[in-house]
Amino acid sequence: MLGTVAAAVKLYALPTTLLLLFTMFGDQILQALLKATGIYKSYNSLQVLKGIDINVAKGEIVSIVGASGAGKSTLLHILGTLDFPDRGTVQLGHQLLFELNSRELATFRNQQIGFVFQFHNLLPEFTALENVCLPGFIGNRSESDVRTQAEELLTYLGMQGRLDHKPSELSGGEQQRTAVARALINNPAIVLADEPSGNLDSQNARELHQLFFDLRKRLDQTFIVVTHNEELAKMTDRKLEIKDGIIQ
Ligand SMILES: Nc1ncnc2c1ncn2[C@@H]1O[C@H](COP(=O)(O)OP(=O)(O)O)[C@@H](O)[C@H]1O
Ligand SMILES: [Mg+2]
Repeated sequence: MLGTVAAAVKLYALPTTLLLLFTMFGDQILQALLKATGIYKSYNSLQVLKGIDINVAKGEIVSIVGASGAGKSTLLHILGTLDFPDRGTVQLGHQLLFELNSRELATFRNQQIGFVFQFHNLLPEFTALENVCLPGFIGNRSESDVRTQAEELLTYLGMQGRLDHKPSELSGGEQQRTAVARALINNPAIVLADEPSGNLDSQNARELHQLFFDLRKRLDQTFIVVTHNEELAKMTDRKLEIKDGIIQ
């Protein structure tokens, strides 16, 4: 009898306890990978961002749209620690980014954040392979590991015949794929892309966008993509529009 009572208590107590724990700590369990809160940024008298809140979960692909000058790049730079807000916090994983000093921030950025810009920003005197390797070398990883991973990434991105080409010898689509490989070389927590297909024809743009979704599937990679491309924005999990300094 006592055994039955004990079993019944166990049976009911466990889900109740789990429910209670979830109620108490659900926020933490479902915590966003990236969480930006109350971001403000002005340039002199120009108020660009007026209280932006963003949460992005691991594996999400979120697009940010808005008119030219709306503050999309400003926001992306702040999320990526390339610029500082006047007010507000950005947390990636468990790390509050602006609590780090500049040296710690540079290391954190190198390891955790990948960037893809509209213009590839590859170094002209280095080959595609070398460009992809650089953030790995800066992060003091073993040279052979970095090279192997760079070759794998570039091959996955369809660049196997182009490893030793310099950026000027690559097409726009190939330059951007190299930039994506460079963004991924240190297995970052998040990739931030600022109009990555803004300079590509529609076919290459479509291929690049597809790549983001393939990488999400393969690596559970998280992306925030600023874009003017309606087709891409529609494909993403969530489209956030910046207008009048806030997310609408
Ligand atoms: N470093 C800066 N100094 C002064 N004004 C800036 C600076 N960076 C951006 N701005 C201004 O802030 C506004 C938002 O710029 P930006 O974030 O680049 O917009 P978007 O990427 O949406 O086109 C624009 O009016 C731009 O001129
Ligand atoms: Mg911009």
